[in-house]
Amino acid sequence: MLDRPTLTAPSLAAPVRSGPEKPKLLSVEEAKALDVGTMADLFKEHINPGQFHFMKLLGFHKIKVERAEGMYYVDQNGRKILDFFGGFGSLAFGHNHPRIIEARRKFGEEGRHEIAIAFLSQYASALAKNLAACSPGELDMVFLGSSGSEAMEAAVKVAERASGRRNCKIVHAENSFHGKTKGVLSLTDSPLYQGEFRLVNNTVKVPFGDLKALTRAVESDPEIGVVVLETIQGGGGIIEAPTEYWQGVRALCDKHKVIWVADEVQCGFGRSGRFYAFEHHGVVPDVTALAKSLGGGKAAVGAMIAKRDVYMKAYGTPKTAMIHAHATFGGIGEACVTSIEALNVLYDEDLIGNAEDTGNYLLERLNAIKDKHPSLIKEVRGRGLMIGLEFQDFSRALPFALRPMVAMLDDKLKGSLSGFVGALLLRDYDCLVAFTEYNRNVIRLEPPLICGDEHVDQFCDALDALLSRGIVSIVKDFVKSQLG
Ligand SMILES: Cc1ncc(COP(=O)(O)O)c(C=O)c1O
Repeated sequence: MLDRPTLTAPSLAAPVRSGPEKPKLLSVEEAKALDVGTMADLFKEHINPGQFHFMKLLGFHKIKVERAEGMYYVDQNGRKILDFFGGFGSLAFGHNHPRIIEARRKFGEEGRHEIAIAFLSQYASALAKNLAACSPGELDMVFLGSSGSEAMEAAVKVAERASGRRNCKIVHAENSFHGKTKGVLSLTDSPLYQGEFRLVNNTVKVPFGDLKALTRAVESDPEIGVVVLETIQGGGGIIEAPTEYWQGVRALCDKHKVIWVADEVQCGFGRSGRFYAFEHHGVVPDVTALAKSLGGGKAAVGAMIAKRDVYMKAYGTPKTAMIHAHATFGGIGEACVTSIEALNVLYDEDLIGNAEDTGNYLLERLNAIKDKHPSLIKEVRGRGLMIGLEFQDFSRALPFALRPMVAMLDDKLKGSLSGFVGALLLRDYDCLVAFTEYNRNVIRLEPPLICGDEHVDQFCDALDALLSRGIVSIVKDFVKSQLG
């Protein structure tokens, strides 16, 4: 056995040469000790003053998280906040899962290398192998990156090259969300996010879940080479399409040699009760993408997974291999270790099975609450632990006399009862929920996959108690919270 060389720690002594003077920097300890007021000031001064306005509306600006464990955040006053937001699906393992923490600690102590673009990385190779093992059919070539957008950029590019049509057109769906980097922004159906940017113009938009419209588009335009669809639309407000639709998509793409990209960044990684949501429908896309919980709630990891023949058509020769090879941080060591351990925990703890069972219980309880408050809740939908709660348009639910007051607030909350409910769930019941980009009347529930029935009960009891206060008191309490 070879002796392991001793690694010398970097010198802590002050540099002897006279470089630039150190600017006034906060230390890690000082960062940790910042109070909530200073955090808010720095956010407004250096990050995003406009966003602070929304944080204030929802009451998020008063909270400094001191710790986070399992299903809960703990704030500066020791208050435990139940996390049904789950970082938009990034926290399958809850906060700080002990096995994931331990794997990262060990990796750091062993003094391993991080960057995977010179030498081979045992960790990047193993993660790619694991992702192939979790993926059905021939989905077994993996590109590693650091975000969902990066994974989706890789997915769209591999598909374009494999389609065999130069400058091919790409179909996407109404209300789609695929990220905000410039390529996939062109496939994200939001005038707000698309802003005034110059986008790629080879896109074709069709209604989501409408096979006839998709067929018409593909059959009338031979330049279409790629179809990009979220399997469950997240930003659109938790919208699903039936099995016949997905089977039709597969058959249509096969018939016309079009590459189907399934965006599973939000709905994948076990959240729907299967590893990939498309597995509910007995179909396999040509390319898919994961991110969010793939990083175990501790690392930024995204992955594109393609069928081998698709990948080889795009980048299979030495001449084409570097066209879209990993970026600097693709396959970085500690992130890969985190994901390897995360995938193992996902199966060891049967979190996918739990997502299905606990999700069914959550749906059952939410439907009972909807039946009790039909003037407030319009629909409960979703699958596994990816659930949408759509509220009624509250202007209709409200007594006539209160409508002018609400009209005043409409501007701020875009007419959404979900904003009122979310803000009061946090303030009065210690529950955090997520909102929805394109439909302000939908609350998204994407709790960690470690969620148990007791957490469902805590959340549903809180929601029921809040809604039982009635619309007038909810609106009045919200308005008071804004004045206080
Ligand atoms: C379906 C889907 N695709 C892509 C993305 C982009 O992921 P990221 O924010 O990690 O870039 C998201 C993010 O919410 C998403 O929900």
